[in-house]
Amino acid sequence: MPFAHITGWGMYVPEPILTNEDLSKLVETSDEWIRERTGIRERRIARDTDFPSTMGAEAALQALKIANLAPTELDLIICASSSPEYIFPSTACIIQDRIGATKAGAFDLQAACTGFVYALNMGAQAIRSGSVKNVLVIGTEALSRFVNWKDRNTCILFGDGAGAFVLQASDQPGGVMSAVMHSDGSGADTLSLPGGGSRHPATEATVREGKHFIQMDGKEVFRFATRVMGRAVTEALEQVHLTTNDVQWIVPHQANYRIIESAAKHLKTPLNKFVVNVERYGNTSTASIPIATIEAAQKSQIKTKDKVVFVAFGAGLTWGAMVVEWTGPLPAKKKVRIEPYRLFARLRSFFRRVLRRLEGILARKEL
Ligand code: UT7
Repeated sequence: MPFAHITGWGMYVPEPILTNEDLSKLVETSDEWIRERTGIRERRIARDTDFPSTMGAEAALQALKIANLAPTELDLIICASSSPEYIFPSTACIIQDRIGATKAGAFDLQAACTGFVYALNMGAQAIRSGSVKNVLVIGTEALSRFVNWKDRNTCILFGDGAGAFVLQASDQPGGVMSAVMHSDGSGADTLSLPGGGSRHPATEATVREGKHFIQMDGKEVFRFATRVMGRAVTEALEQVHLTTNDVQWIVPHQANYRIIESAAKHLKTPLNKFVVNVERYGNTSTASIPIATIEAAQKSQIKTKDKVVFVAFGAGLTWGAMVVEWTGPLPAKKKVRIEPYRLFARLRSFFRRVLRRLEGILARKEL
């Protein structure tokens, strides 16, 4: 059975920074309150030209460059997003077109902030089954578009950005070692974006009632998160007969520094084993684990052969954890240049649209 290795990684965050100070001009809050209760100092906000697909595609191309893999060699793209571009088509398909992944299947996976852990596990399982070799897993968010900038309970928390991993099959042991996925739909109303789906399709009333904004019972989510994080880590480690002593890094979902502190306490593990960057990006939902991991890898904190645990929780309610052995790029016969693929993808997309139009016209004439 092939092993699923993480061989490439890439991230993208939009340039505009929204500080706590900026927020204190929008709602009744303060830098001191936000830092004390969440650990967040600032977050990135998508520009009008940034979308989950554009940010996800940038992260993906970087990941492919590190993996030394052409987009055309991808078999599957899984995109996790809590702020997808549309209900359909999937953001994964838009990214597939943007990067020119000509032979890849593509779908979105919805597990809110746990989405990246779920998606990574699904990608790894597809590789383990032998049905695919090269998988791109993306977490990408423009959550700022769903934030009520008048609600101080939520608007201080979220940020935008994207992260991507390439998973590749190899006979060498390593990569994804174990994973657990959990859910509890009885807590569905604890954290939700109720409007715009088939339950509450957009109407004047849904807009007036704020149903198109993120709604959250912060205290309840906090309690739930502190309850499940440590347990999920222990479960994923037990599957491979490891303990936190065998692990070099734990990368938790970056939602609130106090939640991470509580997980560390529960696991009796020093906080300096946890990768934390919530102060600079806030909660970027599905993108938070890849962004934190990539920054740690770039700083050479996470190194080849390190055992790393990812752990996340989110709306659903969902939660999950995964143990991986960090590898890095597989040996490659030739260097793949990614930049030409960007142009190739644009041209290909344009000509396919033109061709589809012409075919439509000809088909109509034949009828
Ligand atoms: O991916 C999962 C996403 N969600 C989460 O992870 C959220 C988890 N929950 C949390 O992070 C925390 O519950 C919050 C940061 C949202 C809130 O922190 P808290 O310590 O649970 O505060 P609280 O809701 O108990 O509010 C305490 C007080 C309240 O005032 P009163 O009723 O005691 O007078 C709030 O109205 O703080 C007030 N408050 C604020 N004050 C200043 C709430 N938000 C703010 C704010 N600035 N932004």
